[in-house]
This record gives sequence, structure tokens and C-alpha cells, in this order.
Amino acid sequence: IRIFIPADAAAIAAGAERVVTAIRKEAEQRNLDITVVRNGSRGLLWLEPMIEVQTDSGRVAYGPVKPGDVASLFDADFLHGGQHALSHGLTEEIPFLKNQERLTFARVGITDPLSVKDYMAHDGFAGLAKALTMVPADIVQEVTDSGLRGRGGAAFPTGIKWKTVLGTPAQQKYIVCNADEGDSGTFSDRMLMEGDPLCLIEGMTIAGLATGATQGYIYIRSEYPHAIAALNRAIGAATLANWLGENIQGSDKSFFLEVRKGAGAYICGEETSLLDSLEGKRGLVRAKPPLPAIKGLFGKPTVINNVISLASVPYILANGGQAYANFGMGRSKGTLPFQLAGNLRHGGLVEKAFGLTLRELLYDYGGGSASGRPIKAVQVGGPLGAYLPESQWDVPMDYEAYMKVSAMIGHGGIVAFDDTAKMNELARYAMEFCAVESCGKCTPCRIGSTRGTEVIDRISANENRQENVELLRDLCDTMLGGSLCALGGMTPYPVLSALQHFPADFGIEASTET
Ligand code: NAI
Ligand code: SF4
Repeated sequence: IRIFIPADAAAIAAGAERVVTAIRKEAEQRNLDITVVRNGSRGLLWLEPMIEVQTDSGRVAYGPVKPGDVASLFDADFLHGGQHALSHGLTEEIPFLKNQERLTFARVGITDPLSVKDYMAHDGFAGLAKALTMVPADIVQEVTDSGLRGRGGAAFPTGIKWKTVLGTPAQQKYIVCNADEGDSGTFSDRMLMEGDPLCLIEGMTIAGLATGATQGYIYIRSEYPHAIAALNRAIGAATLANWLGENIQGSDKSFFLEVRKGAGAYICGEETSLLDSLEGKRGLVRAKPPLPAIKGLFGKPTVINNVISLASVPYILANGGQAYANFGMGRSKGTLPFQLAGNLRHGGLVEKAFGLTLRELLYDYGGGSASGRPIKAVQVGGPLGAYLPESQWDVPMDYEAYMKVSAMIGHGGIVAFDDTAKMNELARYAMEFCAVESCGKCTPCRIGSTRGTEVIDRISANENRQENVELLRDLCDTMLGGSLCALGGMTPYPVLSALQHFPADFGIEASTET
């Protein structure tokens, strides 16, 4: 009998290891033969540790399981899907999961993340096998046809980025995966790397074949030790199975991959800063141009893509760009793994095609606020994303539609706040975050963020309030227009949206300015 217990960091944080020990012990005492598979998380985080049992009619889920529940689970014959207070029935039928469109996360939580055999039994390496039969320009074309745009947040077309690297001649090119997932409330990169690391490896190898790069690096934040371990082991397994390394599957194509650990600075998630850090220097933002696609790592043409962008590629190659483009709306093609966090009853990962609304995510999936109080504001797109009031929750989740309301989808992080949140304090937090994380290279960000924190403090203390509000708007304008990178350039989004939509929290009247 197979029991699935996630080895995902979220499940471990919720006590999965103790549950594994308790289940093994109980099975031994009862003389029962079980096999425990350490899968990835299904993304229903409020149910972690969520264990699943393979039955004839499918997997049955139980959660959240504590060691103290284990004996009663055995008594209820959970090994055959028996009823128990913690039972949720067939996993696939749980509405949170059933209504998703999982393309990139299709295997996460289902397979054994480190088993090449299991991966291949679930369509793994089909995309790479196809790519091995294609010329580079055709691989790039397939990705272009899919409409895939950078999932790190900037939404730049992946196919165009790859085309630039393919068209830049060089002895050596690189594929760099940005796994420095630093946005508050985001965890999709981590979940993918822990739950299906071979998918990222496959995507990077395809990127190598498409652009002529033979070396790849995964730059991953040090706060993700489980993902680092999973990736290192998966790289070993893929190399052993000859899907990575020299002469892949008997072809004349080679691709090598290594993991590099970041040192804990938010700014190292910015691509040029990341390159500096990878080269062994302090992570400082470089001026663009030159673009990394032309002059990147060690001065060579480099593809830098986020984890989810690269992990979307195997599906695209295996099923064709058009199959991916059939999902989504407008210029936002395919799916995005949205991450529900903050004050929500059901936090977790929801992969859906673009076009659904924030309201659907908050209530149909998130189940409303965890506190039971009305939701007041939702920050979408990480710490540099705008706060959306209820009047904007019906805007379709589409890059362009969000841009029209001065918001951004970014990396898909969604953090909900109930009506006890004080928006002036959250605006202050945005400025303070920028001040702490600024790399210090340019003045609007380095100085502006500190002055911005002080100005918000004066507004909150009702010192020359109107004058200081004007000063704050002016400062935001300078940061928006004069910063070298997105950290200083986008910090005004949360600040201005808080000011615009929640003026009462700043003690001022509503304004039409944005
Ligand atoms: P950007 O718009 O400057 O660049 C987007 C990407 O396209 C870059 O890789 C750039 O090199 C590439 N590019 C642009 N023109 C190109 C061309 N002609 N040929 C080839 N490549 C080209 O945006 P940036 O500064 O890289 O990212 C900002 C975004 O990062 C923000 O929108 C934010 O959502 C996101 N972000 C994500 C975080 C996370 O943890 N995932 C953290 C902080 C910010
Ligand atoms: Fe550095 Fe901030 Fe300027 Fe970006 S905006 S280059 S983080 S000082």
C-alpha cells in the first residue's frame, strides 16, 4: 500500500516528518506492509501535512494530520480509504484542485520528485525528446508561438529573449535560472523545484538546445535548503539516466547544470545583480543595455528566465506552442500558478489560465478571509505590487488589464488583508522594505526610500499633512521615473495605490490623482 506524504518545505514546517515517523511506527506495530512516497505538495496548504493513500478508485486525502491522529486513522482503515474526521475523499475531487488547469504543475504532488522512471511515466522528457529532433530556430519558434511571457514578473516574451541569444554568436552561452524567489507571499518556484525538479531541468536543457548554450546555472536563494537538495539530487538522477550531461540520449547535444546558492539579498533576484553575484561579486545592479541576452554571465550571451518560465517549456514542446496558447486571454497566454497567502482561509497554489478574476481567487479558491472579517485590500505581485480595493477585484487577471489600473500581476503572489489593516502602515512598510533592500547604486531609491518612510511617518502623525502628501506624491514620481531598476522604480506602486484607494487611513480626503 502506497502512502504519499509531502517532503515539501511547507508540509515539513507543518510537522510532516513527525507524521512519517508515527505512520511507520504504527504500521510496524500492526504488521502492515506500507510504502511511504515523499511527494511534493498538492498546494492545499491549509491541509498540510496532507497525506494521501492510493486506493482502487484513486488517491484519498487526509489532513491536516498530526502524529496524535495516526492511530485513529489506522483504526478507521484509512489504508483502504476509510472514513475519518480528517478525510477529504478523493483528492482529485476536492474543488480547490478539481477546478484548476495544471499544465506546469501537472506532476507536482503526484510523482516521486526524484524518480526519473516516475517522471517519464507521467510524460516527463517528452518535450526534450522532441527538441532533440528539432533545429534550434524551430524550438525557439515553438516557444514564441506559445505566447509564453516571463513568469518572474516582467512578462517579457520568452521566445524573443531566446531568439536574441540564438542570434548572438559566441563560443560559450549560458542558461541561468532565476530561483531567487524573493517576493512576499510567493512560493510557486519553491513548490515546483521541490515537487518536480526534473521539469525545471528538462526546461533548461531545452533552452540550451534552443540557443546553443551548453552550461546552465540555477541561482537559488539560501532560504530554500529543501529545494537545493532536491535539485542537486535530481541533477544527479537526470545525468545518470543520460537526459543531462554529455551526448544526451545518444545525440551530439550536451548540456551541463549546476546549482548556486544566493546569499540572501532581495536585489540578487534582479537579473543583472544576480549575474554579478553568480560571478562571485557583490550583487549590484548593472545598467542595461547591454542586455544579458547579448552580454550576460561572464560577458557571454545568457538566457535568464524564472523557474516557472523554464518549467512551462516541456509542456510547450511536448504538446506544441498552440496547445499552450489556447489557454488565457489577450496577450496573456497560458496559465499562471497563483499563490494565495495572507489572511485567507485556504492558502495555497492555484494554477489557472489568465482571465479569471481576483474575486474568484479570493472567494472560490481562498474561501474568504481566515479571520472571518471583510477583506479590505489585496496586494498582487509581491512587495512592489499595488494594493487593490474591492472595486478592482473583477478586473480579469491579464497583464495588460492590470497595467490599465496601475497594478501588476508580477509573479502571481496574492496577499489578502482584512479590515483591521492600516494602509498608511503598509505604505510605510513598502518604503522601509525598499530602504533596507536597496543596493545603493542610484539616488532616488537609496535616499528616496528613507525620506519616503519619514514623510509617511509625518503624514501619520498629522504634521503638515496636505503638504507632506504632495511631497510623497512628488517623491514617488521621482522614484518611478529615475530609478535604475524595478526595486526603486516600483516601490511607488504599493504606496500610491494605498494613498489613492484608502485615503482615510492617511487622514486625507479622496483624490482623483494616481
Ligand atoms: P525588464 O522589463 O527590464 O526585463 C524583462 C526581461 O526581458 C529581462 O530579462 C530583460 O533582459 C529582457 N529583455 C528586454 N528586452 C529584451 C530584448 N530586446 N531581447 C531580449 N531580452 C530582452 O524587467 P526586470 O527588471 O527584469 O524585472 C522586473 C520585474 O521583476 C517586475 O515587474 C517584478 O514583477 C519582478 N520581480 C519579481 C520578483 C520575484 O521574486 N519573482 C522580485 C522582484 C521583482
Ligand atoms: Fe539599486 Fe535601488 Fe537603484 Fe535598483 S533602484 S539600482 S536597487 S539603488
